[in-house]
Amino acid sequence: MSKNSYFAVAIDGPAASGKSTVARRLAKRLGLIMVNSGAMYRAIAWATLEQGIDAQNTAEVLTMLDQLEITCGVADGTSTILINGTDPGGALREDAVNERVSAVAAIPEVRYLLVEKQREYLQLGSLIMEGRDIGSVVFPDTPYKIYIDASEEVRLARRSAEGLKDVVSKRDAEDSKRKISPLMIADGATVIDSSEMNIDEVVEAAFQTLLEQGMKTNLQSIE
Ligand code: DC
Repeated sequence: MSKNSYFAVAIDGPAASGKSTVARRLAKRLGLIMVNSGAMYRAIAWATLEQGIDAQNTAEVLTMLDQLEITCGVADGTSTILINGTDPGGALREDAVNERVSAVAAIPEVRYLLVEKQREYLQLGSLIMEGRDIGSVVFPDTPYKIYIDASEEVRLARRSAEGLKDVVSKRDAEDSKRKISPLMIADGATVIDSSEMNIDEVVEAAFQTLLEQGMKTNLQSIE
């Protein structure tokens, strides 16, 4: 396959909407690279914690960013990220990172840098990328765009069933109201409300959506 025929599937949605699970399962079944763009913003937030930097202080964050070595790659079909050679691993999902990631993600320079790295993934192969602005900003020209939603109540219940505390509503409010690349339904995106669906149903609905959006595959169904 030539580089030019690589395509991107954009999956956006609020926190705990189920988009990561859907993206992971679709990517595996369709043989696409799975890129978790939230992990990239989380990695920068984690670096501010490691370096004792106030995430609300843009100047300090930018000075840190200048000296940060951010290495994005792929292992076993999934995106990876190293900060100054270290894999933050599970620390990316800790409360302290949840608390500050939206502030870091609202800084335009952070977004310019990460969006460039997100687009570079398309040189490696066709992919599914999940996030908040993938269909609107990162890959606005892709025909494959899904927005996965769920009620706030359901999203909070999902996080607590995973044994995780998360400031889901606070993050959504901050991610939706920021000036640059806010969480939004991209032009051309199909919305799937997953509130009343189990994960298998959401994955199937997402797959059928991609077929409707013109994706060519020999599969009739995802399972
Ligand atoms: O998908 P996630 O919950 O792991 O994302 C963590 C945070 O990163 C989210 O609260 C907002 C930010 N983010 C973003 O601004 N743009 C993206 N494309 C992905 C995540």
